Amino acid sequence: MDAAFADGIELALRWLHVIAAIAWIGSSFYFIHLDASLEKRPGLPTGVAGEAWQVHGGGFYRMRKYTIAPPELPEKLTWFKWEAYTTWLSGFALLVALYYAKPELYLIDPAVRPLEPWRAVVVGVSSILLGYLVYEILCRSPLGRDDRLLAIVGSALLLLFAFAMTRIFSGRGAVIQTGALLGTCMVASVAHVIIPNQRKAVAALLVGRTPDPELGRRAKQRSLHNNYLTLPVVFTMIAGHYPLVFDNRWNWLILALVLLIGFAVRHFFNERHAGRPSPWWSWGVAAAAAAAALGLARPPAAPTGAATASPPPAFAEIEAIVASRCAMCHAEHPVWPGLAAAPKGVRLDTPEAIRRWAPLIARQSVHSRAMPPGNLSGLEAEERARLARWLEAGAPGG
Ligand code: HEC
Repeated sequence: MDAAFADGIELALRWLHVIAAIAWIGSSFYFIHLDASLEKRPGLPTGVAGEAWQVHGGGFYRMRKYTIAPPELPEKLTWFKWEAYTTWLSGFALLVALYYAKPELYLIDPAVRPLEPWRAVVVGVSSILLGYLVYEILCRSPLGRDDRLLAIVGSALLLLFAFAMTRIFSGRGAVIQTGALLGTCMVASVAHVIIPNQRKAVAALLVGRTPDPELGRRAKQRSLHNNYLTLPVVFTMIAGHYPLVFDNRWNWLILALVLLIGFAVRHFFNERHAGRPSPWWSWGVAAAAAAAALGLARPPAAPTGAATASPPPAFAEIEAIVASRCAMCHAEHPVWPGLAAAPKGVRLDTPEAIRRWAPLIARQSVHSRAMPPGNLSGLEAEERARLARWLEAGAPGG
């Protein structure tokens, strides 16, 4: 496929994915809040569990929740499911377009494990599938009857998964694989449990029967998981752009702390919106976890050593390093197959450009090993050290 066309497809998929995810998370936050704010008032019709008044868009909304079928139900019922399905479909397509179509760039790090590209893809897809199966079995097992225990065991297994991924793939690949597993579990819950159980419950209500409470319990359990996972899953989707997080030996631990932050913040809002006393301690937990994550995410000391004493390398040396290690991809017309233009618009093929992008070179190649991806062009430690000395000296030109 023409590389520029492939870039266009990737952009369109990303656009769709973000929009679908906003719609999904938005409606889910809305309903969590609505559910929590329903109030029981005298005079409500039978079957109405609560009512909430809301104001939006220049009018008032009177929202009522019926827990048994109202005497009349209109033909048109709105179901909320396509937001979730579209998010997964576009997300998976994006995962394929980026990570699985270009595994050398994004998924594989030969320093971690020199996987053949096709093997990396097979392991990537099957680990997500396997992870999801384990989740499904856990929820359906006797353990699934105890929400707290399930949360503890589930989080521990998730952490194990993230850790395993960091031993197989590049840091960036491990982060996205973990995010893809979370997203898959969340959407599969909507598709296989929440929506079908709601359908059965609605069918029962319509014929005047009481729905099987087990259907409701299972759907509610999955909704609860999705509610608590929303913030961490979004983090995993953006963390791949921050070498500070993914190119870090503690990346799996940072993910664990982010999981904790996400849980704590959701818990605060869940309780508050339900009108219960706000658990302000949640913010303490979130702040402590954030501080710990920031501590771990500190860049390792740049490879300088005794460098400061020696004079900075001549600019010509820097140009030579960049020309041989970066410019095959970061040029106006990259020679690396599959790249239509300099990635992220970062051209490193002129002296001016190299100086202009110096802070980004520091971030990607000195404070982290994010670039070259998987060290494809074989940037040597000694060359990184020379880049570091040049940057420390204020990135002087020739
Ligand atoms: C094999 C191709 C390849 C090589 C070699 C390579 N890069 Fe990159 N670079 C990429 C790709 C692909 C991206 C875009 C990553 C993404 O989508 O986030 C990128 C992104 C970047 C960015 C922008 C990151 C951001 O998100 O802001 C910088 C800066 C960068 N590279 C610097 C370098 C430097 C410095 C070198 C040489 C030491 C180098 N790259 C070598 C492929 C390469």
